[in-house]
Amino acid sequence: MEVVIVPDAKAGGELIAESIAALWRRKPDALLGVATGSTPLPIYDALTAKVAAGAVDVSRARVCQLDEYVGLPVGHPESYRATVIRQVVEPLGLGADSFIGPDGSAADVQAACEAYDRALSSAGGVDLQILGIGTDGHIGFNEPCSSLASRTRIKTLTEQTRVDNARFFDDDIEQVPHHVITQGIGTILEARHLVLLATGEGKAEAVAATVEGPVASVVPASALQLHPHATVVVDEAAASKLKLAHYFRHTYANKPTWQGL
Ligand code: PGA
Repeated sequence: MEVVIVPDAKAGGELIAESIAALWRRKPDALLGVATGSTPLPIYDALTAKVAAGAVDVSRARVCQLDEYVGLPVGHPESYRATVIRQVVEPLGLGADSFIGPDGSAADVQAACEAYDRALSSAGGVDLQILGIGTDGHIGFNEPCSSLASRTRIKTLTEQTRVDNARFFDDDIEQVPHHVITQGIGTILEARHLVLLATGEGKAEAVAATVEGPVASVVPASALQLHPHATVVVDEAAASKLKLAHYFRHTYANKPTWQGL
């Protein structure tokens, strides 16, 4: 695992956006796995600026979702489908058929989960998966004690995650769905390159457990230790509980060997 400590969220967004641009330059139809939440927004801003500047051609680029709420009405602005369209697909000018995600409104949710795993495989697999991390160590919506071998499936959100996400629902936890579809940890580990971005002190403990703790389902993000090409990009605040911060700074600062080239 490579741990890159950056000064702030903007620098993290820029670094990851450049890695994605480099991927699309060498593989124009690469499948980018996108995450929602506040953390990845600097990535999308930086990527949008690169596209607007003509620094990368996205005419064949493809994106896919990591997770989705179950039971929100189709088109609900806080559904992750609508969020990804608003934050990624439209700003980058991608076509509607360049984007795949699980169907959170399906009558048979389990069948929708299995269909999504098949869709990811038939799309050739995810080339680069962007990940955030929950304060409880989740990736996607794989909450603590998710099987490290799990596939895309329905999950019940913890109270902590519903509290964390209430800000997207008028600060009203009652509006936050209880159930979600998430790529499983086993599914996520099939992506060719995992890039986790964490910013802010609130993530420091989860980051330390992910990077320096044992691999354990109680910290789902620790599964990144099992992946042959995982990169963790953290700002100073999110790095503040890393015992090896000094070592990471010397090893990876200004040596972006991780960019997937
Ligand atoms: P956040 O969410 O970026 O909004 O903090 C991260 C996550 O829950 O994965």
